[in-house]
Amino acid sequence: MGSSEYVIRGFQRTDLERVMDINVKCLPENYSSLFYLDLYERYPETFLTAVVDDQIQGYVMCRIERSLSKLKALHFTRLCHVVSVAVMPSYRRRGIATDLMEAAMAKAHSTYGASEIFLEVRISNLPALNLYGKMGFTKTRRLVGYYMNGEDAWEMGKSLEGSKDWTSSQ
Ligand code: ACO
Ligand code: ZN
Repeated sequence: MGSSEYVIRGFQRTDLERVMDINVKCLPENYSSLFYLDLYERYPETFLTAVVDDQIQGYVMCRIERSLSKLKALHFTRLCHVVSVAVMPSYRRRGIATDLMEAAMAKAHSTYGASEIFLEVRISNLPALNLYGKMGFTKTRRLVGYYMNGEDAWEMGKSLEGSKDWTSSQ
């Protein structure tokens, strides 16, 4: 392992191959290059990478959606959907995923006006469930058979109100 210092910075097109490589190494949910570039073009501020030892070792990418709140009944709002987050195995447990998520949450709220963040996670994925729980996410729904292998997902969400920088009337 190298230095424990890392920098969170925005995704760039030249990062595509490395980010796709990390995704394939870390998760069974994989995507086409067009999918990544589409997310980047539409929501560049919430597509972030963590650079350590001169290489990207983690990423988070999100989509901003208008839909019903996951937290408040009958409340139509703007949500930040975390599509994927991953950190390379030898760089885990240093707070990198927490920092990627915190940075994406701040941008989702301040730049895109999102009032909530949500995601889906395998019910067997204890590292990720612990990460989100520690960040204050709560389980909002169980999505039966959500994954290709039939596994259920927890949908988890967290309010972004109280985050700084957003003062428009929503
Ligand atoms: N076991 C138990 N708890 C864990 C673990 C683990 N292996 N890893 C993280 N946590 C919890 C701990 O509470 C940890 O705090 P602590 O280290 O002070 O105890 C907290 O999460 C924060 O951990 P970070 O260091 O910020 O997380 P890390 O950078 O290690 O990345 C991640 C966590 C992204 C889940 C990583 O393990 C990973 O890439 N896993 C494979 C890909 C994956 O599952 N991604 C999420 C899928 S869901 C989605 O993308 C929406
Ligand atoms: Zn707000």
